[in-house]
Amino acid sequence: MFEVAEAYEAMMGRWSRQLAPLFVEFVGVRDGDTVLDAGCGTGSLSAALARMTKASKIVGVDPAGGFIEYARTQIADPRVTFEVGDAQNLPYSDASFDRCMALLAVDYIPDVRRATLEMRRVTKTAGVVATAMWDRSGANELDSCFWHAAAAIDPTAKGSSGRRGSYGSAEALSDLWIGAGLIDIEVAGVTMPCHLSSFDQLWQPYLRSQGATGAFMAGLSADRREALREAMRQNVLGDGPDGRFTLQAKAWAVRGVVS
Ligand SMILES: C[S@@+](CC[C@H](N)C(=O)[O-])C[C@H]1O[C@@H](n2cnc3c(N)ncnc32)[C@H](O)[C@@H]1O
Repeated sequence: MFEVAEAYEAMMGRWSRQLAPLFVEFVGVRDGDTVLDAGCGTGSLSAALARMTKASKIVGVDPAGGFIEYARTQIADPRVTFEVGDAQNLPYSDASFDRCMALLAVDYIPDVRRATLEMRRVTKTAGVVATAMWDRSGANELDSCFWHAAAAIDPTAKGSSGRRGSYGSAEALSDLWIGAGLIDIEVAGVTMPCHLSSFDQLWQPYLRSQGATGAFMAGLSADRREALREAMRQNVLGDGPDGRFTLQAKAWAVRGVVS
């Protein structure tokens, strides 16, 4: 589902880079902490951790080799390493990290319950395990601007909230963390403005998108794709001229402590 780093960066990496510092603030990292970035992708979270904290070691792990290669080219900080690996079977000893974080990843891990148990296993007692996912309730304009347009041209389009394993709500994330046996669980909504200078800046990345939007796009003929483009343009600009606009993005973050 994910492999082409440049396409991911254009579509989502630009927003996960903006979300990552808010997630780091929510989780809290102490000087000298060792931190695992599970499902690191192209390295947005690891980059924010390196920039914002005095963590002693930051490890990014992801099964997508193309993403790991790209991430390695982005960060030249000796505290940061990237490795190909699977969050369902983490290649680390028990209690290796002070913080284990996963940004925008849990929806994409086939056996997410197993992955959360693995995240807890590799985290020290009293350490923190945390994740964040985009809100899937419709309050996240970054997500809903596409799926509302998709539903307008195809009433059977499921939208992201109807997909398997959607953890884009406070309840779903809280339940997942309770199921992982974590304690002192806290959940918070995180919002951020996404500034765009033209409609094409929003639309063009969808032409190479991966994940659920990419799968939906791949099933469209050229005519239907044009209808989707027009429906989306109407959603964000109405009948007005092209130009700058802002979408409000919303995510949910959860943190819990290992007992
Ligand atoms: C939406 S991307 C998020 C990437 C990055 N954390 C970010 O915020 O930009 C989802 C990531 O989950 C990764 N992923 C999928 N299955 C995984 C697994 N079993 N273990 C770890 N990561 C996985 C994908 O390869 C992809 O990099």
